[in-house]
Amino acid sequence: PIPVVIDCDTGVDDALALLFAVRHPGLDLRAVTCVAGNTDVDGVVRNTLTVLEQAGAPQVPVARGAERPLIEPVRVARHVHGSDGMGDLGLPAPTRRAADTDAVTLLRHAILSSPRPVTLVPTAPLTNIALLLRTHPEVVRNIGRIVFMGGAVTTGNATPVAEFNVWHDPEAAAVLLTAGVPITMYGLDVFTRVVVPGADVRRLRASAEPGARLAGDLLAHRPASPAAEDDAGGLGDAGAVCAVADPQGITTGLLPVEVSLAPGPTRGQTVVDRRPRPGESEIHGESRTPALVDVALDVDVDRYVKLY
Ligand code: BDR
Ligand code: CA
Repeated sequence: PIPVVIDCDTGVDDALALLFAVRHPGLDLRAVTCVAGNTDVDGVVRNTLTVLEQAGAPQVPVARGAERPLIEPVRVARHVHGSDGMGDLGLPAPTRRAADTDAVTLLRHAILSSPRPVTLVPTAPLTNIALLLRTHPEVVRNIGRIVFMGGAVTTGNATPVAEFNVWHDPEAAAVLLTAGVPITMYGLDVFTRVVVPGADVRRLRASAEPGARLAGDLLAHRPASPAAEDDAGGLGDAGAVCAVADPQGITTGLLPVEVSLAPGPTRGQTVVDRRPRPGESEIHGESRTPALVDVALDVDVDRYVKLY
């Protein structure tokens, strides 16, 4: 199996991602680290521990990470993820606590102790990852790829142009993009498209198996659109983990990507250069050399729904 480490802000769809990572036989979930985002970091830790317990994976190490972005204040998304960050489903409190080590230390250990290069999957603001790369830059030698949920080629969600995870900590996202390892950007353009039909969600909710039931309840909490009448729900962050297990399900383009750090309406935007000849900036007197990133441009929705 592929060694995987998830950095998340659980989060309804982060929970869907964890459930999938635990169950997919081709993935070996080695550690989970928590960061402030959808809710405060202590809530993220609690939710993450609960989900792993429900999924029958109480042995996966979990650590608490950054409680705020590098520069910005915390701006949690309770309107999307409920007051507990997990859809207010009334889930039980976890029976164990997080590791005594902090997230950066656990990330370093999980990456460097892996016999094979790790795929790092951030599904949250990138604060922990930036701190890791700056504190322990040697980790890159055992990171095979970073597949992150974040950014958008076209339309944002936190702002007209910025996606939440990048917008919440733009400086951290800029550090990630220049990590010098292969990166896949699973952005909003594909993220919003993978929706599980209501009939499948109802089937999961009726399951005798607690992990499957939780997945169904979480999906029902993620209506595909405000107008959706049935239980259909988006996979969200879980799609990024599908892209690790089955990379053929997405179509990517290797494109220059840069994060806008300027104050104002573009802050947190991922500027993706889709011009046929990206070198054109130089012709116009610019000398920018943004990182090349495999940007997900299309997704086989049925394939990922089936896979999930
Ligand atoms: C991202 O923001 C969070 O609300 C979701 O969990 C996802 O990671 C989408 O913009
Ligand atoms: Ca998330």
